[in-house]
Amino acid sequence: MTDEKTGKRRLRSQDWFDNREHVDMAALYLERFMNYGITPEELRSGKPVIGIAQSGSDLTPCNRHHVELARRVRDGIRDAGGIPIEFPTHPIFENCKRPTAALDRNLAYLGLVEILYGYPLDGVVLTTGCDKTTPSALMAASTVDIPAIVLSGGPMLDGWHEGDLVGSGTVIWRARRKLAAGTIDEEEFLQSAMDSAPSIGHCNTMGTASTMNALAEALGMSLTGCAAIPAAYRERGQMAYRTGRRAVELVLEDIRPSSILTREVFLNAIRVNSAIGGSTNAQPHLMAMAKHAGVELEPEDWQVHGYDIPLLADVQPAGRFLGERFHRAGGVPAIMRELLDAGKLDGDCPTVTGRSMAENLEGRGASDREVIRPYGEPLKERAGFLVLKGNLFDFAIMKTSVISQEFRARYLSEPGREGIFEGRAVVFDGSEDYHRRINDPALGIDERTILVIRGAGPLGWPGSAEVVNMQPPDHLLKRGITSLPTIGDGRQSGTADSPSILNASPESAAGGGLAFLRTGDVIRIDLTQGRCDMLVEAAEIERRKADGIPPVPADATPWQRIYRRTVTQLSDGAVIDGAADFRGIAETPPRH
Ligand code: FES
Ligand code: MG
Repeated sequence: MTDEKTGKRRLRSQDWFDNREHVDMAALYLERFMNYGITPEELRSGKPVIGIAQSGSDLTPCNRHHVELARRVRDGIRDAGGIPIEFPTHPIFENCKRPTAALDRNLAYLGLVEILYGYPLDGVVLTTGCDKTTPSALMAASTVDIPAIVLSGGPMLDGWHEGDLVGSGTVIWRARRKLAAGTIDEEEFLQSAMDSAPSIGHCNTMGTASTMNALAEALGMSLTGCAAIPAAYRERGQMAYRTGRRAVELVLEDIRPSSILTREVFLNAIRVNSAIGGSTNAQPHLMAMAKHAGVELEPEDWQVHGYDIPLLADVQPAGRFLGERFHRAGGVPAIMRELLDAGKLDGDCPTVTGRSMAENLEGRGASDREVIRPYGEPLKERAGFLVLKGNLFDFAIMKTSVISQEFRARYLSEPGREGIFEGRAVVFDGSEDYHRRINDPALGIDERTILVIRGAGPLGWPGSAEVVNMQPPDHLLKRGITSLPTIGDGRQSGTADSPSILNASPESAAGGGLAFLRTGDVIRIDLTQGRCDMLVEAAEIERRKADGIPPVPADATPWQRIYRRTVTQLSDGAVIDGAADFRGIAETPPRH
């Protein structure tokens, strides 16, 4: 509809501020914005009103500098002829929210949907950083479908401890092993952790935060090069300004998430995830974003489209370096450029820049071949996720790129049986049980044992926890055995480097096969066939079903109850069942 005053397309916000049929309501909508100095002329001018979804706060320190960056976003919005309106989103701090930050992704999503739908916003800048802040924001933007653009906060500067690079998360896993083996004390443990976090920003490894921001860029939802700029670099503020400007243009050009987020871009994102050595958490988050975008993505797509892609980024946890070197080497565009030139990327996809992905990537090659490898000379071949199934679950993934040579030699190289491993299961019900019993000699854990954890999925935890990367008992650590095969219905931290079978769906609490596994059962993992089975007779499994499924903690908050009643499994993105039905709701304005 054309606006008679501006001669342009009538904007959503005008339905609030400039509505002849509801003058009384327009007065109410306008008056309180005045009290911070905004004028009625501005709000009734037909200029795009751009929300800045502020994810930073003292409770989300990884994103906290967005509070400062928002000033540059506002400058950009104003300079491009828009009106900025900043508002807070529900905080999600990965390392600190108990019982797990995953519980809050759908809550932040719900909150943002209500804001974008129910307030006079024409477009939105999504400020992202810490793990779930990115998928929750993109899920909401897709549901509402108003013009949206991602502004990543960027990683922290590289961490150094006693002359060594120390990265977020990875330092914890490594130092924990040293602490357990007695080679460092608690003070050094703490100091190395603190040294890994030298500045503002999110995790500086290719953990879930850097992964999800890279994938937002790969999806075409941020300006080119946005994801990897370290938080403290001057380019970050400049990116904030440009993103603000572009948000206004997106509204004027009416470019919405629905015109960008197609199946092809999700497949691009899966391939980029392999090439950067991205987090296994990308699987449920990308699935969730696809669901809300109305895109058919199958769990198997991870293997079909992602597994054969080589690892190109030499960044922890799969490689050596951290965020600063990755950015200086060319960041996400350089990775995508390699994939494009190798014919592994759909370059025709539209993006928020208004140009195609291929156009965005012109002249964006890697400048440091130590950090970003040529496609033909990768760090590792086949760096994607294997998709496994069997009588323990219908779906689980394994990130094979983090499997060490030592681990391969120990478990997966038996002549004639390469890629096949059988081991005795030791089963834990939740992480308290694991911590209580892992060093119990009665469990008989040796280097052939497979550690299993259940009760760690969306229903069981609740929220699904990053607990599958379980450390071996101290007696094995002291012998230098730093990882055992692990299986679980929870997730693993994006910064962990353990060869785990993760995200098993359906989870134990939903009656999946893991519920009927017993300590002492033998599990066969066959990576060549993509199978993982307990070698237990079907009749015996049936008999065990009569014992019921292992209990899980009661709901501790109202949201936990609502979450458990609505959440789907990790294979499906652990989304709110039915939420995808609401896609495109901005099309019809809410009633007054
Ligand atoms: Fe927030 Fe890693 S804990 S980004
Ligand atoms: Mg994490």
